[in-house]
Amino acid sequence: MKDFKKSTVYQIYPKSFYDTNGDGIGDLNGVIEKLDYLKTLGIDYIWLTPFYPSPQVDNGYDIADYYNIDSSFGTLEDFERLVQEAKKREIYIMLDMVLNHTSTEHNWFKRALGGEKKYKDFYIFKESADHEPPTNWQSKFGGNAWEYVEKFDEYYLHLFDRTQADLNWDNKEVRNEIYGIVNYWLEKGVKGLRFDVINLISKPEKFENDSEGDGRRFYTDGPKIHKYLRELNENTYGNYDDIITVGEMSSTSLENCIRYSNPEEKELSMVFNFHHLKVDYYNGDKWTIMDFDFKQLKGLFRIWQEDIQEGDGWNALFWCNHDQPRIVSRFGNDKEYLNESAKMLATTIHMMRGTPYIYQGEEFGMTNPYFDSIDKYRDVESINYYNILKEQGKAEEEILEILREKSRDNSRTPLQWNSEENAGFTKGTPWIPICDKYKEINSKDALENKDSIFYHYQELIQLRKDYDVISNGRIKFILEENDKVLSYVRTLSDKTLIVINNFFSKETMIELPDEYLSSNLNSRILISNYKDSSTLNKRLALRAYESIVYYIEG
Ligand code: GLC
Ligand code: CA
Repeated sequence: MKDFKKSTVYQIYPKSFYDTNGDGIGDLNGVIEKLDYLKTLGIDYIWLTPFYPSPQVDNGYDIADYYNIDSSFGTLEDFERLVQEAKKREIYIMLDMVLNHTSTEHNWFKRALGGEKKYKDFYIFKESADHEPPTNWQSKFGGNAWEYVEKFDEYYLHLFDRTQADLNWDNKEVRNEIYGIVNYWLEKGVKGLRFDVINLISKPEKFENDSEGDGRRFYTDGPKIHKYLRELNENTYGNYDDIITVGEMSSTSLENCIRYSNPEEKELSMVFNFHHLKVDYYNGDKWTIMDFDFKQLKGLFRIWQEDIQEGDGWNALFWCNHDQPRIVSRFGNDKEYLNESAKMLATTIHMMRGTPYIYQGEEFGMTNPYFDSIDKYRDVESINYYNILKEQGKAEEEILEILREKSRDNSRTPLQWNSEENAGFTKGTPWIPICDKYKEINSKDALENKDSIFYHYQELIQLRKDYDVISNGRIKFILEENDKVLSYVRTLSDKTLIVINNFFSKETMIELPDEYLSSNLNSRILISNYKDSSTLNKRLALRAYESIVYYIEG
């Protein structure tokens, strides 16, 4: 059985991972073919984003059938083979459970539209006077969150696209159906579950206008969320002792995060929160361009690490996923300092308290693709916002600039396997253009160069297994006033780890607090991103993006 505190999860977006039949779409057989590569990296779990039958309006987060595999990805047999082949390599599969909403192509929704009361009660239909939506809540993908159905003269709620209808979790029959779905996949040998936007499932009793915002304060960490998660646990994965779970908790609070992940609450193993990935949203608006606010980032990490520790909760540690731009293009420097900054960013989170997640391609420094025209984008959110920003009067070039920084497609371009045609991803035409840096940035070159970002990740993954101070130590942030360097200390009995990361290309000098220097005779460098990093000293000069981890015993 794996200890999730010593484990690392690797996220695969199957559509963009590896295509084995030349249709331009990655598939489950592609994942099987690359298992040895993942074994070399050393990861423990593969989180697969949704592969269920879907009209693919939101790339599979709009599920039409929870019990099958979309034919573009393969078959149930392929999936079963994947579970077996991964297990042979001591890798386990984590599935993405999208249970806040279904596709409007799901049979339940079709029957609801057909007028069957039982299925109408599976969703959130509301009447409204005067042809006005029941509330002013906004969809996360832009526009009002209610869709009108003429036949009933009613609206249904969709917090995401209009083809993603929110399920009514207050209906016990819905919850029972959901337990059935989760148990079905657990019986197939799945060992991990990632719950999509799970803190949005509990809607308020009364639906009212939000005079202050977009409505999220009424349903984020909603009234019955803890009850529903505990019941889900009790009826599904709680009956096993080797399942890890992670909840995607958009805009959650610290207090709720602790409850979600404190083992005594019997809800989830850990949580993704996104506060640290909003430090480049100008006035909280994603669709703006802004340098990241480093001081804010530091403050957020400190709070979410130290306070979650105090409450005995557990974090999922991540920079990247299929919804986020590439971190090295975002908070690093993907030009002069690709290697240094990618390694520094990796060390920053892999040495923290929590379970690290790596998003495909991150392990060898994949960057944003910098698309130059709207035709290259596929993502529903990006295209919606392109239109919204147009309506607001923004110029084409300005909008494209924003998308180049903020679009979810930045992370969805095909994995760059080698420098051959289509980056070795497909023999056909890729469903979305390849990032044109693939000749310099690809997994084959990374594997051939012992100094590559890939081997840095490999080492970080192994260190977490070998050093209890990484998996179980306490964390405390230091150098809080420094505006260039993020630094923290991990401790476990007589072991100490000092982690130091320069987030900028300018050289900078730091002074460490004396309390960590008394026993520096026993200190050594555990990992760094320069060959000749300095030994532990009170004063240290850090070069561009320099990152050093000192290990002290005694
Ligand atoms: C999550 C997913 C995202 C999806 C949304 C709606 O945020 O990560 O890709 O669009 O939920 O399911
Ligand atoms: Ca394919």
